[in-house]
Amino acid sequence: MTEASSGAEDGSEVQRVVVIIPTYNERENLPMILERVRTSVPSAHVLVVDDGSPDGTGDLADKFAAEDERVHVMHRAEKAGLGAAYIAGFEWALDAEYDVIVEMDADGSHAPEQLPRLLAATAHADLALGSRWVPGGKVVNWPKSRELLSRGGNLYTRIALGIELHDATGGYRAYRRIVLQTIDLSGVSSQGYCFQVDLAWRAVQAGFRVVEVPITFAERERGESKMSGNIVREALIRVTEWGAAHRTAQLKALLRRS
Ligand code: GDD
Ligand code: MN
Repeated sequence: MTEASSGAEDGSEVQRVVVIIPTYNERENLPMILERVRTSVPSAHVLVVDDGSPDGTGDLADKFAAEDERVHVMHRAEKAGLGAAYIAGFEWALDAEYDVIVEMDADGSHAPEQLPRLLAATAHADLALGSRWVPGGKVVNWPKSRELLSRGGNLYTRIALGIELHDATGGYRAYRRIVLQTIDLSGVSSQGYCFQVDLAWRAVQAGFRVVEVPITFAERERGESKMSGNIVREALIRVTEWGAAHRTAQLKALLRRS
């Protein structure tokens, strides 16, 4: 019986870790990512959240789960977006009493080999963001257009929300359970990738300690990205709305004081 744990940096604490991997048509990537997680952090559990992938990713995940008690699978009826998949996964993970809950893509862009560093950061932070845009972080093989989108999106987010984070849109991160228990998950309606900004913003506003850990993000070698124009539009509109609401609240507080 394997204990689902990861020692904290000083080895004094035993943490139960679950890595949530959302999948849509990732059959070609699933065996690779599960193997790399198993090798990098043998004690971690994995929850695959599959949205009824037509390519059979869900069935393949079931086969892994049947052979390894650390692997769990959640099947959802249809493709409902990254945000919805993660919210469902978070609720499952909180119910199952994990201490640290990790987000990771299935396509290998988020190297499981860097997971120990992310987990170590949760010893002194509530949320550890894997960051491409801090010193030491980088992207490999990403088209220039995606890099510009990510850098631009993060710059806009930093200015609109007035936060210090350099990579609030990234999807490789580790939450201490208290963060996800405190945030009203049922109130999070972001569907696409702006879900990442949404959660980082809520964590900052709730006063949690959020740190950025440099990572190397490598573009996928197999399968396709699900990024789309709609996803970018949703993010732009929502971040602008959150920023406006935040500024209005700040202004009101200022006026009340004077
Ligand atoms: N269950 C489910 N449902 N999974 C999904 C869905 C969905 O609707 N959409 C995407 N996924 C899964 C993919 O199968 C993959 O494992 C992961 O979510 C990320 O999707 P990609 O399509 O590979 O995303 P990306 O590489 O374009 O974007 C990455 O970078 C963004 C920031 O630049 C991701 O890490 C995003 O989270 C991140 O915001
Ligand atoms: Mn990807």
